[in-house]
Amino acid sequence: MSENILEVKDLHTSFFTDAGEVRAVNGISFNLEPGKTLGIVGESGSGKSVTSYSILQILAEAGKITSGEVLYKGEDITKWSEKEMQKFRGEKISIIFQDPMTSLNPVFTVGYQLEEAVLLHTNKTKKEARERAIEMLTLVGVNEPESRIKQYPHELSGGMRQRVMIAMALCCEPDILIADEPTTALDVTIQAQILELMQDLQKKLGMAIIMVTHDLGVIASMCDEIMVMYGGRVCERGTADDIFYRPAHEYTKGLLRSIPKAENMNEKLVPIGGTPINLLNMPEGCAFCPRCDSAMKICLKEKPDELQLSETHYSSCWMNIKKLYEAQEENK
Ligand SMILES: Nc1ncnc2c1ncn2[C@@H]1O[C@H](COP(=O)(O)OP(=O)(O)OP(=O)(O)O)[C@@H](O)[C@H]1O
Ligand SMILES: [Mg+2]
Repeated sequence: MSENILEVKDLHTSFFTDAGEVRAVNGISFNLEPGKTLGIVGESGSGKSVTSYSILQILAEAGKITSGEVLYKGEDITKWSEKEMQKFRGEKISIIFQDPMTSLNPVFTVGYQLEEAVLLHTNKTKKEARERAIEMLTLVGVNEPESRIKQYPHELSGGMRQRVMIAMALCCEPDILIADEPTTALDVTIQAQILELMQDLQKKLGMAIIMVTHDLGVIASMCDEIMVMYGGRVCERGTADDIFYRPAHEYTKGLLRSIPKAENMNEKLVPIGGTPINLLNMPEGCAFCPRCDSAMKICLKEKPDELQLSETHYSSCWMNIKKLYEAQEENK
């Protein structure tokens, strides 16, 4: 039996559109251990949400996992029926979406929606479900939960709604929580509170978290491992220290140059030039090559293999392969 609660192996997901096949995820692999936090980082369109939706099998109709495996406790859930997946979602794995207003129903009270989530996945009575709803709202720091449950989503502030979403995602105590940009719509102080709350709940409930974000700075302190994505592929993965102190991929270096550093607030931020790739027409070589200042001829022609740089650190960049080759030549 595997130690990992989740293993994603060479996952490929495409959307079959009138314009052609959009290859949104192109061979993603990662492991998640129970109780640990994995950060998935990349700019808009890099395939973070499609990776999350593929795991949960909640892709849009045109979307399809074309190959690869998603193993939950060693079992490939891509083979499961929709009925099995419905039970699995919410009970074992939950997701918090970016915008709570799209996932909370505006015509039902907060309490009703929380109770429904509990009733759907447990044998609790209506009264017990209401008690659980109040207990969960208290747990996520919603004040006066008894009166809050009678309110509609639009009556709550953005931060409150996000707390309700977290309560809903956690009411059945899942093993894995996927948080897809859970704080993007919130201001900075509330953002920090929500992230702290998630870490707190993780300690209490022992779940693993997949934290999806376009902002490396936000997740620096909370991830055991970080995976950097570009064009539906993994560029680099490693511990937070590997990514922040020893970035190896040119794209990761670019991401780091574009976030402010506390120790040097006067330093100029440098955005990554160019535009993200067209997934309908993927380049033959490295996806980041057209925007990379260090690109070589080979980067255009061939995809770099993933190189292991240390026990925890991996990168897919021709520059790393070149450096390794040069070091070997020097030692000859
Ligand atoms: N329903 C769809 N139909 C066609 N293509 C889609 C669909 N959903 C996503 N895609 C494609 O998949 C790519 C990856 O999208 P995804 O939503 O995973 O990006 P993301 O990394 O989550 O970006 P963001 O930070 O903006 O949320 C998009 O660029 C888009 O081209
Ligand atoms: Mg997204």
